[in-house]
Amino acid sequence: MTEDDVNSRIRVAVVIGSVRRPRMADPLAAWLERELTAISWLDLDMIDLASVPLPMHEMQPGGAAASPIAGRLADADGFLFLTPEYNHSFPAPVKNVIDWHFTEWAYKPVAFVGYGASGGIRAVEQLRTVFPELRATTVRESVLLPMPWEHLDADGRFVAPPGTARALGATMNELRTWARALRSLRTADLVGRT
Ligand SMILES: Cc1cc2nc3c(=O)[nH]c(=O)nc-3n(C[C@H](O)[C@H](O)[C@H](O)COP(=O)(O)O)c2cc1C
Repeated sequence: MTEDDVNSRIRVAVVIGSVRRPRMADPLAAWLERELTAISWLDLDMIDLASVPLPMHEMQPGGAAASPIAGRLADADGFLFLTPEYNHSFPAPVKNVIDWHFTEWAYKPVAFVGYGASGGIRAVEQLRTVFPELRATTVRESVLLPMPWEHLDADGRFVAPPGTARALGATMNELRTWARALRSLRTADLVGRT
C-alpha cells in the first residue's frame, strides 16, 4: 500500500433506513451529519431512502434494474447504515435498498448505527447475516442508541449520551481501515472472479 493510499480520503455513504413521517431518523441523521462532516479524512454522502424511489415491483436479481442511487453507492468506499429496529429486525426499506443493488456493495465495508427501544441490536446483528451474500464485510464496532427519543433537547436536536462519541469514533476508524484495504483490492483488480 502506498503513502497516497494511506492518506487518501474515504467516501462514505450514510444510508438512512427509516422512511416514516415523522421519524426519529431525522434528528439522528442530523446529528450523524454534524459528527461526520467534522472528520477530516471523510467525504460524506447522505442517502435518505425516504426520497429515493426504489419500487419493490421493479426489483431485478443481481441489481439489474435502473436505480437512481446506483452511481452514488458505486462511488462509495464504505457504508454506514442508520437503522431502527422494527419487530426485532431491520425495516423493509433497508432490505429493499440492499436487494435493489449488487455489485455496488461488493468488497466494501458496512458499519451500523442502530437505534430503538433496545438500541437496534437485533436489526444490526441480522444485517450482519445479509451482507456476506453481497460480498460486503461488516465492521465489528457499532453505535447502538437505546431510546434515543429520551435524548432530544428543547429544539428536538439529538444530544448523544456519554460513550456515544467513543463508539462512533471507533466505528468510523474501523470502517476507514477496511475501506482502505478493500479499495486497494478493488483498484488493484485483486478481487476474485466468480
Ligand atoms: C413497526 C415498528 C416496530 C417496532 N419494533 C421495535 C422492536 O422490535 N424493538 C425495538 O427496540 N423498537 C421497536 N420499535 C420502536 C422503534 O425502534 C422506534 O419507534 C424508532 O424510533 C423507529 O425509528 P424511526 O422513527 O426513525 O422510524 C418499532 C417501531 C415500529 C414503527
